[in-house]
Amino acid sequence: MNVYLNGKILPVGEARVSVLDHGFLYGDGVYETMRVYGGVVFMLEEHLGRLERSASMIGLALPKSPDGIKNAVYETLEANGLKDAYLRVTVSRGEGAVGLDPDLCQVPTFFIYAGRLKPYPRRFHEEGIRLSIVNVRRNCKEALDPEIKSLNFLNNILAKIESKRAGADEALMLNREGFLAEGTVSNIFFVSGEGENALCTPSVSCGILKGITRDVVIGLAGRLDMKVEEGEFTPGDLYSAREVFITSTIMEVLPVSGIDGKKNFSVGGVTKLLMAEYRKEAASYVRDTKAAGPSIWGFSE
Ligand code: PDD
Repeated sequence: MNVYLNGKILPVGEARVSVLDHGFLYGDGVYETMRVYGGVVFMLEEHLGRLERSASMIGLALPKSPDGIKNAVYETLEANGLKDAYLRVTVSRGEGAVGLDPDLCQVPTFFIYAGRLKPYPRRFHEEGIRLSIVNVRRNCKEALDPEIKSLNFLNNILAKIESKRAGADEALMLNREGFLAEGTVSNIFFVSGEGENALCTPSVSCGILKGITRDVVIGLAGRLDMKVEEGEFTPGDLYSAREVFITSTIMEVLPVSGIDGKKNFSVGGVTKLLMAEYRKEAASYVRDTKAAGPSIWGFSE
C-alpha cells in the first residue's frame, strides 16, 4: 500500500506526520472521501469543489490547485494499481507550535490514501441496514457547521458509539430543534407514507453535510419525474414512511430495514429503482470521462 504525503508517494509504513500537526492535536483540517469505479474517480470535480469550500470555511488555503490535486489523486491510484477503490484526500493545518492559532502552522499537510473497498455484508443491500435515532444531536450550524467536512468528527463518533450499543448499523442524528438531520457518514431519504409518492430528505438548512450522493439521487429522482421535498421532517414522518434509504459516496444507496426495532421496512420499489439508477449513473460517468480523454489524469489501460 502506497500513500501520497506532501508531494511524495511512499509505502504507508514510511509515511510520517508530526505529532505537532494541528490535524492530530486539534482536528484542524478538512477531508473528502471519494469512490473510484473502473479507474475513474466518480464526481471528482464536485468533491474537489466541496474540499475547497470546507477549507475556505476554516480559513485554510489548499496547498495545490484543483488540477494539482487531481494529478496527485491519480498518481496515488496508479501507485497502488487500483481501479475500484476508496480514496481519501486529507488536508490538515500542518505542523506548528502547540496552540490554537492557525498562524502557528506554515505549511498544510496534504495526504492521500487509496485502498480496496471492503464489501458490506449482503444483508445491507438485500434487506437493508438497521438505523437507530440517537440522543446525540447533530452539531448546530452556529457552532460547527456540518457543511464543513472537517477532521473534527467527535460528534459523529459519539453518535456511532450510541448506535452500536443499540445494535444498529448506522445512527440517525436529529438537529437541535428535533428535526431529522443525517447519519454519521450518510444522508437520509424516505418515501412519504401520505398521499403521492414524494421523496423526502432533510434540507441543508437543517444542518447537514450536503452529500454529493444526495445531490446525485435528487437529480436522478427529478429525471424520473418523482416529486422531491427538501424540508424539516420529524421522527414521526420517518416512522410512517413507506420506504427509507441512506446515501453516501461509499455506501451509494442503501435501504433501511428498521429503525430502533420500532418500525420495519422491506426494500421498496423506489429504493430499488434508485439503487439501480445510481449504479447506471456511475457507469455512464466512467464511460463519458474515458471517452473525453486523452486526459492528463490518464488511466493507463
Ligand atoms: N461521509 N453526512 C456526513 C456526516 C458524512 O460524513 C457523509 C460522507 C455524508 C454523505 O456525503 P457524500 O454523499 O458526499 O459521501 C453525509 C464520507 C463517505 C466519509 O466520511 O468517509
